[in-house]
Amino acid sequence: MSTTFQLDTATSRAHPTPAPMKRLTIPAVRQRKIEGVTAQPVVMLTAYTARQAQLLDAHCDLLLVGDSLGQVIYGLPSSIPVTLDLMVAHGAAVVRGSYHAAVIVDMPFGSYEASKEQAFTSAARLLKETGCDAVKLEGGAAMAETVAFLIARGIPVMGHVGLTPQAVNVLGGYNARGRSAEEADKILSDARALADAGAFAIVVEGVVEPIAVAVTRAVPCPVIGIGASAQCDGQVLVTEDMLGMFERVPRFVKVYANLGDTIAQTAAQYAADVRTRAFPEQAQTYQPK
Ligand code: KIV
Repeated sequence: MSTTFQLDTATSRAHPTPAPMKRLTIPAVRQRKIEGVTAQPVVMLTAYTARQAQLLDAHCDLLLVGDSLGQVIYGLPSSIPVTLDLMVAHGAAVVRGSYHAAVIVDMPFGSYEASKEQAFTSAARLLKETGCDAVKLEGGAAMAETVAFLIARGIPVMGHVGLTPQAVNVLGGYNARGRSAEEADKILSDARALADAGAFAIVVEGVVEPIAVAVTRAVPCPVIGIGASAQCDGQVLVTEDMLGMFERVPRFVKVYANLGDTIAQTAAQYAADVRTRAFPEQAQTYQPK
């Protein structure tokens, strides 16, 4: 059955029918993995707007307001210019549009690396002003102390290791990580450090499959893969990639629909209607009162 929405104009909230399930909690997501086994894989997609959240919510465990919105929504060359203000605005929109999935908001580059205190101030603002359930930050062992600091102060944290796009200038590009033994060991020890610090889940992005599998086996919390391995405890994709909104998508993405083509064809049809004046409304004349 498809979901319909009734808009409450006083609060701008859209109330869905049928009523959705209760919002998932972060401890419930962490508990998906018991003694190294995740019977129910964790489903995560990115969402950047209220309407997108409404459409994805019932199908996902987690909605990620990723800093990939820099490229996807704003046409920026990387996620580096993304600001905390942008993450607050989009995070709040996604929380307003969702009821069931837990909402995770990315901490943007420059908002958490300087000190654990800086990280707390930024993360607290995200929780207060968006109503999100948790934050995600990039980096491994170097961020472990910060992760423990946030968690001890009431802020659940999702880690992110492997290809960490905010470090593109250090990594030298977006190529898969973990090809050398040194890189592989680093990814594994980064994931362990985050798990020891209390991260409730860890994204492993763009790593060769054996490393993704090793990370998944090495840590007690769910490991969510992107361009990693189907054997991770869960998967995440950038929603616009899997909807076919771009000509070029990463090789690992399964494209489930071709919305880019549909939008272009629909715009062409609309343009043709305007140019041939084929609007039914235009047959009626306006009657002033
Ligand atoms: O920003 C983002 O969308 C992400 C996912 C790709 C994991 O971090």
